[in-house]
Amino acid sequence: MKVSNIQLFLLLILVTAPTGLSFIAAPSNTASTWCTRSSSSSITMKYEYRTKDTHIKLNASNSNEEITQSDLLPPIPVTGVTLKMAFDKNYAVADASEFKSTRFTSPPSLDLVHQLRRNSDCVLVGKGTVIRDDCTLTVRRVALFPNKRQPARVILDSNLEILQARPASEKKLFALLQDGFDAILYHSCPLLGSHQEAMAFNPHLTLVQLRKGDGTHMSPTDIVQDLQSREIHHIMVEGGPATAIPFLQENVVDRAIIIRAPVTFIEPVASNMNNDMLKDAGLVLLEKRSVGDDVVEYWVREGEDWPTVSVADWPN
Ligand SMILES: NC(=O)c1ccc[n+]([C@@H]2O[C@H](COP(=O)([O-])OP(=O)(O)OC[C@H]3O[C@@H](n4cnc5c(N)ncnc54)[C@H](OP(=O)(O)O)[C@@H]3O)[C@@H](O)[C@H]2O)c1
Repeated sequence: MKVSNIQLFLLLILVTAPTGLSFIAAPSNTASTWCTRSSSSSITMKYEYRTKDTHIKLNASNSNEEITQSDLLPPIPVTGVTLKMAFDKNYAVADASEFKSTRFTSPPSLDLVHQLRRNSDCVLVGKGTVIRDDCTLTVRRVALFPNKRQPARVILDSNLEILQARPASEKKLFALLQDGFDAILYHSCPLLGSHQEAMAFNPHLTLVQLRKGDGTHMSPTDIVQDLQSREIHHIMVEGGPATAIPFLQENVVDRAIIIRAPVTFIEPVASNMNNDMLKDAGLVLLEKRSVGDDVVEYWVREGEDWPTVSVADWPN
């Protein structure tokens, strides 16, 4: 992905104009990131990152009002599909011995996931994850970027089961169908009156019918194209494995963030995924970093760049 100087210039003008902050954008050979907060009444913040073409340096100070980091940082424009998966030591994705999947990665890795969510136009999962976890998939651990909404939640659910099923907690509906944020359900069943009623009751719900191209599943390529037609340009695929694998097999994943946690599940839910599957999908491993107790792998489509020169700078 390439970012033009003009795109970044416009973004920075937008972000800095209301606060009268200053920025510098210039080519450079050095890269570093820092952010300092001197006191609540006088705040100085600096942020710097490099993409392949541009070096962004942002210096800001404001003595009157509280400035948070997310007020200052523009999102780096990224398109395509970013896959995120978290595994235990044996590529398992959850522990079936638990009533509901619990977080098994470290707090800094969870922050990274929420940073990726806030950099995405949608977060996509299969119906299995919604039924098992009753998740909202919203950005909660980090602030949203200014003027950015919660990413839409996209659920692949051939028979629109989550409109009929009830969460184990016996709340009336799954959380993401009643939290007031956008949800798009891809299905391949005929649209019944009850489905239309669900849409009429929930203005944030969109149902999209797609054929199962090969008779077994809706094609990720078709899903990506349809999402793009809805102005959803950066898609975060958050699993589970039954969703992630067809995306990899159809070679539509542009980059992947794989979190390896140093835990072993009691009753592992196998993913049937491994690094060879990522390689077969045309991805190459760029770097491994320690994030909290976990190891995070950064993969990118062969011949493409990570959005920033240092993988640690994105998602920001
Ligand atoms: N560790 C992690 O990173 C992570 C992330 C997410 C979830 N999880 C865990 O993974 C487990 C669920 O895994 P899972 O693989 O069963 O769930 P999933 O991928 O969330 O859902 C699978 C279901 O989604 C539908 N689906 C997915 N892709 C489709 C396609 N292209 N076309 C049509 N339908 C599609 C299918 O149901 P239909 O045939 O009915 O459409 C499929 O059975 C849970 O325990 C959850 O906690 C872990």
